[in-house]
Amino acid sequence: ASTTDVDLASLEPGMAIKDSFRSQPLFVRRLTPEEIAEAEAVDVSGLRDPQSLAERTKEGRAEYLVTLGVCTHLGCVPLGAASGEEKGEFGGYFCPCHGSHYDTAGRIRKGPAPTNLVVPEYEFTSDTTIRVG
Ligand code: FES
Repeated sequence: ASTTDVDLASLEPGMAIKDSFRSQPLFVRRLTPEEIAEAEAVDVSGLRDPQSLAERTKEGRAEYLVTLGVCTHLGCVPLGAASGEEKGEFGGYFCPCHGSHYDTAGRIRKGPAPTNLVVPEYEFTSDTTIRVG
């Protein structure tokens, strides 16, 4: 299918779901209030790929971070979506292939990746369901 529906009903703050979208890994993470505050406190103008959390999430739904689970360096699958996995120095995702660190908004903060984790096209189809694609 060209779209993927993801049920977020059981997704607790601080947890993530791994799914797939068009044969690529898809991460949906529900941020904690602390992770949202961390992402919002960053001076966007100093970022390699300047984007605010608001630009990377839906209005009123900033706690749901939807990204492809594909490092923008050479395409490895970053760690941090499964519980217990390393999240890197900025508390988001960590790509072990060459050491790219992403923050709680999935933005590249350190390491060789040139751009933020990609936010695919998606929409909320109910309070607890998204359709990606
Ligand atoms: Fe992720 Fe190189 S593929 S750091």
